[in-house]
Amino acid sequence: MHTVTEQITNALSTTGWYVGDSIFSASLTSDLSTQGHSRSSAGQLHAAHVGRADGTQLSERNRGDDTLWLTDAPHDAYEREALATVNTLRTDLNESLYLGARSTELHFARYAPGAIYVKHRDRFRDNDARVVSMVFYLNETWADDAGGELVIYDDDADGTRLACVSPRSGTMVCFLSDRFPHEVLPATRERLSLTGWLSRDGPQPQHQ
Ligand code: OGA
Ligand code: MN
Repeated sequence: MHTVTEQITNALSTTGWYVGDSIFSASLTSDLSTQGHSRSSAGQLHAAHVGRADGTQLSERNRGDDTLWLTDAPHDAYEREALATVNTLRTDLNESLYLGARSTELHFARYAPGAIYVKHRDRFRDNDARVVSMVFYLNETWADDAGGELVIYDDDADGTRLACVSPRSGTMVCFLSDRFPHEVLPATRERLSLTGWLSRDGPQPQHQ
């Protein structure tokens, strides 16, 4: 029996991507879901923008989610636990895969019904800091016909579909940030996640 961390390590070192059980406990996932929904209802999540090398922003049509960054000094116990759990994974992956990832970024993301994120990569053209991307889904129920899947594509010329993931609580996705184009399909309902990156950069002062 392999632990989730061992499964993630094996997956990242072989195929480069992982879809499976979360490193978060069921109760932490549930607390984060409650927390994300209440922060969203309180109007604390804001339209995300896709940054470009020239400093301009792509149209919101490319990316329809609202986000809220967790800071390095979260005040809530579940946020602290989420950051600590991801930081432990970062330390483990650095030891086994020599990633050299020095920091963790995490944000809540809420997609309203119909919102999408067009096919993209998580590494900006002018910045190779992001090493591993990860998503923790926070939707306790999710019907098979509700849409909202994350589709991960191979980096080959054919753009083969590698995975199509429903965003149900308890599911975690992670992949090497430079290798896999991916997109979020529209859903018939609200879609909540905690999304993050392990980065080679040191901790950033504060996100926009
Ligand atoms: C992202 C992203 C995927 C998802 O935020 O960059 O690709 O399933 N998210 O929410
Ligand atoms: Mn992405």
